[in-house]
Amino acid sequence: MDIIKEHPVLSAFAAYGLLKLGQITLQGLGFVWKYLIPHGYDLLNRYGPCWAAITGATGGIGTAYCYALASSGFNLVLIGRNEKKLAELEASIKTRYNKIEIRTLQIDFAKDSPNEFVKKLEAIAEEVDIGFLVNVAGAGHGIEYQLYPYESIEELINVTVIGNSLTTRLLLQQ
Ligand SMILES: NC(=O)c1ccc[n+]([C@@H]2O[C@H](COP(=O)([O-])OP(=O)(O)OC[C@H]3O[C@@H](n4cnc5c(N)ncnc54)[C@H](OP(=O)(O)O)[C@@H]3O)[C@@H](O)[C@H]2O)c1
Repeated sequence: MDIIKEHPVLSAFAAYGLLKLGQITLQGLGFVWKYLIPHGYDLLNRYGPCWAAITGATGGIGTAYCYALASSGFNLVLIGRNEKKLAELEASIKTRYNKIEIRTLQIDFAKDSPNEFVKKLEAIAEEVDIGFLVNVAGAGHGIEYQLYPYESIEELINVTVIGNSLTTRLLLQQ
């Protein structure tokens, strides 16, 4: 080390070497941070700030989406056919995520006429800015398709095709 102190040229080389080493270390850390550490996917930043609407909110997949979106900071419009289930879900989400706002919307895609439920959707879409839609209302019966009674096929089409398609169309128009 003394030899380096005594020779200015060697000192300059040593300082340059240290700087280079620091630069390479920082580049390495930057690479690890950018490519090797998972940062998640910031949906709210990408699509928001806005509200997320979830059809089939009271079902298995819908409820999972509700919690995931609430944890990302989205305000929620919970769409379902059963008022009691919707109220329970709203209360349950609020106990965990008390900073977000929640609206519930009762729609039965099999029983309400398209005119009726489109009006309900229009009303909520005027009230809040819905920018993210999860369409998972479904009326499957967990049996083989050839065993479905006719009425169930009609219900399936009304919910998954008519209901979800008109919901998508209406919200895209907003
Ligand atoms: N889970 C799976 O592994 C899986 C795999 C492939 C496809 N899928 C499909 O994905 C969709 C959702 O699956 P899931 O497991 O979450 O089903 P789920 O638990 O049965 O939930 C269905 C949701 O749709 C709602 N719904 C049913 N009929 C309705 C109607 N007439 N009007 C409005 N809402 C209605 C239900 O409301 P209620 O709570 O009031 O019943 C519930 O919120 C279904 O179409 C299913 O077939 C599921």
